[in-house]
Amino acid sequence: MSQKNPQAQLELTESIAVIQFQNAPMNAMSPGLPGAILQQLRAAQDAGAKAVLLVPGGSGVMAGADISMQGKDWPADEPLMSDLIRTLDDCAVPTAILLRKSALGGGLEIAMACRWRFATAGTKLGQPEVNLGIPPGAGGTQRLPRIVGIQHALDICITGRPIDATKAQSLGLIDALVPAETAQEACLSFLRDALKAGQIPAPAGARQIPEVDESVFETALAQATKRRRGETAPTAIINAIRAAAQLPLSEGLAQERKLYLDCVASDQAAAMRHVFFAERAALKGHTSKEAQARPITKIAVVGAGTMGSGIAIAFMMAGLHVHLAERSGEALQAGLDRIRAFFDGRVKAGRMKDTAARDMLARLSSKAALDDLPPVDLVVEAVFEEMAVKKSVFATLAQATAPGTILATNTSYLDVDEIAAAVPDRVSDVLGMHFFSPANIMPLLEIVRGRDTADDTLATVLALSKTIGKTGVVSGVCHGFIANRSFSKYLREAEFLLQEGATPAQVDAAIRAFGLPMGPFAVRDLAGLDIGWAMRKSTAHLRNANERYSTVGDAICERGWFGQKTGRGFFNYAEDKRRGAEDPEVLNIIRETGAAAGITPRQISDQEIVDRCLLAVVNEGAKILQEGIARRASDFDLAWINGYGFPKWRGGPLFWAEQTGLQKVLARIGSFHGDHDFWEPAALLQELAADGKTFAQHTGAPT
Ligand code: NAI
Repeated sequence: MSQKNPQAQLELTESIAVIQFQNAPMNAMSPGLPGAILQQLRAAQDAGAKAVLLVPGGSGVMAGADISMQGKDWPADEPLMSDLIRTLDDCAVPTAILLRKSALGGGLEIAMACRWRFATAGTKLGQPEVNLGIPPGAGGTQRLPRIVGIQHALDICITGRPIDATKAQSLGLIDALVPAETAQEACLSFLRDALKAGQIPAPAGARQIPEVDESVFETALAQATKRRRGETAPTAIINAIRAAAQLPLSEGLAQERKLYLDCVASDQAAAMRHVFFAERAALKGHTSKEAQARPITKIAVVGAGTMGSGIAIAFMMAGLHVHLAERSGEALQAGLDRIRAFFDGRVKAGRMKDTAARDMLARLSSKAALDDLPPVDLVVEAVFEEMAVKKSVFATLAQATAPGTILATNTSYLDVDEIAAAVPDRVSDVLGMHFFSPANIMPLLEIVRGRDTADDTLATVLALSKTIGKTGVVSGVCHGFIANRSFSKYLREAEFLLQEGATPAQVDAAIRAFGLPMGPFAVRDLAGLDIGWAMRKSTAHLRNANERYSTVGDAICERGWFGQKTGRGFFNYAEDKRRGAEDPEVLNIIRETGAAAGITPRQISDQEIVDRCLLAVVNEGAKILQEGIARRASDFDLAWINGYGFPKWRGGPLFWAEQTGLQKVLARIGSFHGDHDFWEPAALLQELAADGKTFAQHTGAPT
């Protein structure tokens, strides 16, 4: 027999019912779907089925809860995903599920309420809710420990990282791996055998959890506090799993529900949902629909310095062919040594197989010549940050490559349109690919669209950013683009605070307490102070003489202190090579330069430090948005999260400003403006605050 329903269909063959359901593209449990499955479950029971196999349709992905429904009202007459789970758990007819591709979050929670779980090889299973600022909310914290044990359940839920089907089988989370081509038949055959043998497993909720020592939870908490600093969801997860260890299922589920509801309504969860959607939106809407991404397999990296070698590694790790070009054999060798040392290190640390490293190195070629490149699809230039050098390198590259080969610059600040003008026949092939240091590790890739960049050039690089596992954020052309332009305002404000009475250690501690991984001065010491100093000297003539300027950084550099690499910078690294200590001589320099600028030092609160440094970012972000340099506020937020470690759970600087309240933010900025001209509030901020609108509601000029 068979019963039709648009979302779930029932087939009954030889007393086993198959319910196939679909909600493209991911089978998310949107309103309507749980009800449709429940209806077919009842029909299967009524028809006398001895077992039921659930088969997610289409791609086979089991996404679970519909995230777009979080924080919204569910239609009162529609059963919930939790109703489906409860029914599966209590169902008189035993149920099974076939998992393909992935079963994450609610997808896994539904699966765990079934008696049997089958999966095709490579299927990913996990509870990633922590990345949305919430614990699993549909029994995940109660059933998972009953199936895989407390320790594994803690690991899976707190890291949010999926495990693959083979590992899942070894933990008892999967009963059998089935071949992809004949998956459904293999499941049915397994079920027939099991029914014949009378081997029907007990529901997960009825299983006993072996006793564990309380120290397991304490260790998990200590680790989570370190690895997911500032986040509240890990604590909720630990408390929910502790409840599973101590209480019967129904009481544990009630505890989990309470913890889930507290988290889901929190600012942190709202912020993490914002980031989730920001990541999915970032690459969209930048090109016409017709624009086609071209395949990229071979890349030339020009300049084998700090960035060039890191960029080469990033491409090699994604399995691409890389050709490294340099002006001198010596510089080339140094770059190749850095790359080899990286792969050696990975192998030694057991993080990569020797054969994999050798394969990747076999795809690397090199030559100390720019005018003799092998055929490539894309060139990334990472030579010195000087316009004249960049222009001459681009002119050579235009000659050395076929038209249509993308020419990208890794410049940090320079005008991409001016660089493109050096290759007038190729302007449509030129754009910026601004990696962050270390390029193989930092997740952000700023993709700088020039005035004449072709749509398909941009589309190709957007797709490439995904291939190499980076978060691509599109920026228009301006000095420093989205990230460095706003970061420089943050650093400037931090230095002003020193002259007004704060110390580097106090500023850094306040920023860390807010949630960034490092304070501004530790970051500067780590990156090296000399590069910024050279830039300030070379652009000194462009500075407005009436605008406030701090000489603290310059005075430190004049002593030859360039940060960690010289053992001294804003901090002294004599005792502690990595963290550094407050340096009394630096405090003297600060006092002297402050006095010379006529500033009387005062007590500065941590709140003022956070407001001054981060509202400088917010104000600049609003200007960047209003100028169309960033297309969406969420792109700006992503740049700060992935480029500077702004806490995800605060959603990024602009989202944080919105949660604080734009009128409040504007008033605070206005109070700073009373002291300094450069705090002039962004026009967009004033507009939004006056209209009671949010940044997300601003649809600015496209970049
Ligand atoms: P680097 O000084 O470590 O390396 C530059 C390399 O370019 C050197 O190996 C040099 O031999 C080579 N080079 C110079 N002129 C050349 C030419 N005409 N032809 C071929 N090779 C040439 O510099 P770094 O730090 O790697 O910076 C490179 C670019 O990346 C700059 O535009 C910089 O602004 C940008 N960048 C740097 C970041 C950083 O943190 N260091 C971060 C993001 C971008």
